[in-house]
Amino acid sequence: MTNTSQAHDTPEQSPEFDQRDFRNALGHFGTGVTVITTVDQSGQTYGVTVSSFNSVSLSPPLVLWSQVKAAPSHQAFIQSPYFVVNILAESQKDISNHFAKPNDDKFKGIAHHLSPEGIPILEGTLGHFICKKENDVEGGDHLIFIGRVMSYSYNTAEDTAPLFFWKGKYHSAADHIS
Ligand SMILES: Cc1cc2nc3c(=O)[nH]c(=O)nc-3n(C[C@H](O)[C@H](O)[C@H](O)COP(=O)(O)O)c2cc1C
Repeated sequence: MTNTSQAHDTPEQSPEFDQRDFRNALGHFGTGVTVITTVDQSGQTYGVTVSSFNSVSLSPPLVLWSQVKAAPSHQAFIQSPYFVVNILAESQKDISNHFAKPNDDKFKGIAHHLSPEGIPILEGTLGHFICKKENDVEGGDHLIFIGRVMSYSYNTAEDTAPLFFWKGKYHSAADHIS
């Protein structure tokens, strides 16, 4: 097998650190796609497409995600005590693209209902987690949000595949290896 990997220095070793190339390297880690939603004190709702979601702890039940500090919705996520993680299905590529762009009324025309806290829960997803913010942690140009899952729900239909993101593109994750 041909070895196609290439070594690159990180900034400490190289002044010519190439951010684009670093992103390409990170993109080799395939992920699912979520839309994370919240609401502010005035009732304004927010939703952002996020691939940095992950599980943290079973006891207590903790999850995390990170948000770039420059995002227009960042202050809302800092201030709100709650967020909801919506796991996108393979059929929801358009939803992913929709929530990845700034928009004053992101939920117009998007099927959803509200959690008891008033946070949008998207329809047609593989599941969602309603979280209370436990902590946030500095992470360079991102802030890492850690949430305690208060309640969750998931789709039990076995044939519903997740939306999969790898090397900057959406892929089908329907096939599995055993
Ligand atoms: C597949 C995908 C994954 C993304 N993951 C993240 C992420 O983990 N964290 C983040 O801050 N932005 C992420 N983004 C970018 C945000 O979705 C984008 O900046 C969005 O416009 C933010 O919403 P806002 O403009 O309403 O603040 C991702 C975008 C895409 C398409």
